[in-house]
Amino acid sequence: AAENGLQAWLRYAPLPQGHNTPLPLSIIALNSSTNSPVNTAGQELQKGIQGIFGKQLSVFNTGKETSSAVVGTVSQFQKAFGSSPVKNKLEEDGFWLNVKGSTVQILGQNERGALYGAFEYLSMLAQGNFSNVEYATNPAAPVRWINSWDNMDGSITRGFGGNSIFFADGHVVSNLTRASEYARLLSSIRINAAVVNDVNANFTTIDPENIQGVGRIADVFRPYGIQLGLSLDFASPMELGNLSTYDPLDPGVIVFWDDITKQIYDRIPDFAGYLVKADSEGTPGPLVYNRTLADGANLFAKAIDPFGGIVMYRAFVYNLLNESDWTADRANAAVDYFQPLDGQFDDNVIVQIKYGPIDFQVREPASPLFANLLETNTAIELQVAQEYLGQQCHLVYLPPLWRTILDFDLRVQNQSSLVRNVITGERFKRPLGGSAAVVNVGLNDTWLGSHLAMSNLYAYGRLAWDWTSDSEEILQDWTRLTFGLDQTVIDTITQMSMASWPAYENYSGNLGEQTLNDILYTHFGPNPQTLDNTPWGQWTRADHTSIGMDRTVSNGTGFSGQYPPEVAAMYENLETTPDNLLLWFHHVNYTQKLKSGETVIQHFYDAHYEGAETAQAFVTMWQSLEGKIDDERFEDVLFRQVFQAGHSIVWRDAIVNFYNNISGIPDDAGRVGHH
Ligand code: GCU
Repeated sequence: AAENGLQAWLRYAPLPQGHNTPLPLSIIALNSSTNSPVNTAGQELQKGIQGIFGKQLSVFNTGKETSSAVVGTVSQFQKAFGSSPVKNKLEEDGFWLNVKGSTVQILGQNERGALYGAFEYLSMLAQGNFSNVEYATNPAAPVRWINSWDNMDGSITRGFGGNSIFFADGHVVSNLTRASEYARLLSSIRINAAVVNDVNANFTTIDPENIQGVGRIADVFRPYGIQLGLSLDFASPMELGNLSTYDPLDPGVIVFWDDITKQIYDRIPDFAGYLVKADSEGTPGPLVYNRTLADGANLFAKAIDPFGGIVMYRAFVYNLLNESDWTADRANAAVDYFQPLDGQFDDNVIVQIKYGPIDFQVREPASPLFANLLETNTAIELQVAQEYLGQQCHLVYLPPLWRTILDFDLRVQNQSSLVRNVITGERFKRPLGGSAAVVNVGLNDTWLGSHLAMSNLYAYGRLAWDWTSDSEEILQDWTRLTFGLDQTVIDTITQMSMASWPAYENYSGNLGEQTLNDILYTHFGPNPQTLDNTPWGQWTRADHTSIGMDRTVSNGTGFSGQYPPEVAAMYENLETTPDNLLLWFHHVNYTQKLKSGETVIQHFYDAHYEGAETAQAFVTMWQSLEGKIDDERFEDVLFRQVFQAGHSIVWRDAIVNFYNNISGIPDDAGRVGHH
């Protein structure tokens, strides 16, 4: 029964009603070597067609094209059959899918692309879609990565689905079955690399024994076209190499990293690259030696360039601050640190930028750094792990949140500059770019700790391929694949999921005030009093009469001035700042009127009641599906939804009482406080 969770959207469940679609009579996979993604594609087609239709097809590596499903690269196809049928330009990882009844061509620009095409064809069949199609598709960007925050002891930073599938007790685990199954899921959504260890990295990950260990992870990833990446600990030259320094310009340090890189490539020839969190939240970095962040990034870039690898250098760098300084602002940090270095990063460096300027909050403006690096490759960092967003105990379907950022127009040089066109490299004509998502799957047989949370992982892959994909359509594909074709199930899960982020925002932090979680320890549950009076810079500046961060240039932290002029002007002005970011940019009285005509404080009250009510409704909506999906997953999800319903009331009451107490302003509807 745990199979349903483990297989996630790759269950290949039998179709409910009979069908008479012509199927291929055999499968031809044009490469039969074990590590080849084309070979994997052949096996996957066999498995899928067996599951969906109960038909056992044989896999050959040569044969007659008619009435076969042929999978391979374009050049393998040309070798086997003479000429290429592909009518469109294929880019790296792209594929061509041509379904004409029982004759199916699945051709990748490379082997990975061919595997993606096989998964695409199976996804159609599993959803009961038997149409003839003929098209080519290419990725929005070359970098479509996963970041796992797994520690060497087997714990996972902000992991909510059990312990690591990769590590235990300081080593790589011996049984890598789950790692292989994970690679299968990732390749089906066209992820091409996964970093396996936490950004707060430990030097032991790259000691000689563990290089062999992560080499074994790379071995199980390889047949799925997933490349391995590693997070680095900047101080490793001291800790592992016994040097007296980790200064990025020191010749001994340079030799150390060249040598480590060579050891890694000796074991893992297709190693993807490094992820670096330096000078951030206590991690060591180049600033310790008064070197620049570009010096730090280029150290690794130069070591890895001969092997074709890349460096993802995180922009999540900030200092602790003093709240008594009205102009201090953690949100300013990324641009302050990185903008002056634009143009100084090597071409195989990508600066990886969290979607908002603070930290995965329920509502943030797009990071202004996307508008400030015109000569640097960039990638967006998203989080599938719902760190501040209910930690997989709450249903929060994230693509609508992600799309608000990716579709945001930064108006660089007064021209269209959508974040998604910046990170793909298109806007500033950069050779590299893309995205990474923090995904903390664990040994739990739901992977993330919750069946419904898997829609976020599925959707991340779909969006990283095409950022214009519709959030709701992605969700419905996922639902059909995960729970079957019953229209009531699809409609209900759609309704719940699409209402979930707005509901969570309503009962957590409103109007751009941040999520209002406990920020000191758990990042879970309401604790608005932890945001202020700390050096962490996630302030609300709430007092008895007013609330919000004044981030204007005229009177505040100057953050709004980090955006290009048109956007800066919009945020600088209270009147033109959208309500949902009002308290992000402005410090106002609780009685300030919103565009809706409501006051800030009354909006808090109303939104919290509304959000909690929506979360209550999820329970009855889910209950209506009893008998329409298997009991085990029905009960698992019901348990989560009952928790969310209760916790949303805890959230509602904690927040409304907090602001009622601090402001002394009664609720118009008489629900809060004493009157
Ligand atoms: C968050 C998270 C940390 C993590 C950090 C990061 O602050 O709580 O655990 O290390 O982000 O992204 O580096």
